[in-house]
Amino acid sequence: MLNETTSINVTLTKNSHINEVDWSNIPFGRIFSDHMLVMDYANGEWKQPEIIPFGNLSLNPATSAIHYGQSVFEGMKANKSENGDVVIFRPELNAKRFKESCERLCMPGIPEDVFVELVKKLVDVERDWVSTKEDYSLYIRPFMFATDDYIGVKPSETYKFVIFTCPVGTYYSEPVSVKIEEYYTRAAAGGVGMAKAAGNYGAALFPAKQGQLKGFHQLVWTDAKEHKYIEESGTMNIMFVINGTLVTPSEEGDTILKGTTKRTVIEVAQSWGMKVEERKVSVEEVVNGIKDGSITEAFGAGTAATIAHIVRLGYRDEILDLPSVESRTFSNKVKKYLDDLKAGKIEDTHGWCVKV
Ligand code: COI
Repeated sequence: MLNETTSINVTLTKNSHINEVDWSNIPFGRIFSDHMLVMDYANGEWKQPEIIPFGNLSLNPATSAIHYGQSVFEGMKANKSENGDVVIFRPELNAKRFKESCERLCMPGIPEDVFVELVKKLVDVERDWVSTKEDYSLYIRPFMFATDDYIGVKPSETYKFVIFTCPVGTYYSEPVSVKIEEYYTRAAAGGVGMAKAAGNYGAALFPAKQGQLKGFHQLVWTDAKEHKYIEESGTMNIMFVINGTLVTPSEEGDTILKGTTKRTVIEVAQSWGMKVEERKVSVEEVVNGIKDGSITEAFGAGTAATIAHIVRLGYRDEILDLPSVESRTFSNKVKKYLDDLKAGKIEDTHGWCVKV
């Protein structure tokens, strides 16, 4: 039975390509480190995990995940401090969300402590790939998919769990402009919106492309029933500073991802004595708040996106500009705080950085 002391076979690559990487130009998600962790599930149990050289997987064309979407993933980051310590930021939150995603997609879970241990083991092998450069980190992508060779529709009996890593810079290279979406829907109550299911991202591509054709980086999703309330934005949770209060859509219902960065921003704001509200946020409140100046900051929060300033919001035929990035006291301060924390420049009083 899998537990946190399960041994891992490690086969190191004989052909590391780390010296071929142009560290001054790292596009997000296109460069992969040397190794990956692979673990199979069959006959009701997880088999021994292995760390092997990064490479292609071989799949039967009937692999059920490809047809019916039993596929979930996570995203985390590892950072390195000047003294060489490598830390992963709050991986236990991702482990919990991964388990919840698996449950919703009828997939076998991985005990949370084991998930964290596996992530740490791979990052340990790849520690040379963690850059100390500002705004750079090692993005960690764990995922699981159904591997039965069967095209009948039913939960698969076999699965593959894989973790690989990519050195990355920022996901958005500039502050973002977003459009409020009032027709297409990301998630409905009772659906899979709270899960990090691969299909959620596939379903968002077409609507997002329509927004991009109009010049926006991302959409702001609204509730499926009335398109009256803000939910999240593209690859990030969305947060506002309204009259000095940090406001973000609540996770009630099952349509919003429980973001690690969002949770962290909330906890940091509270520890700084700032008022925080997790509640329904209407489109009307946001549009009026930008117009009357009560919204002073808007940003996306996500592992890949980190803190992404929102500078422009499209609503129907209107384009609303938000205050300048330089004027944003809270989001700039929280971004610096989190960067410094991960880089080991300030004390980790919350115990969020898990050392590898
Ligand atoms: C993350 O922030 O880790 C995500 O999963 C977003 C991703 C789709 C790029």
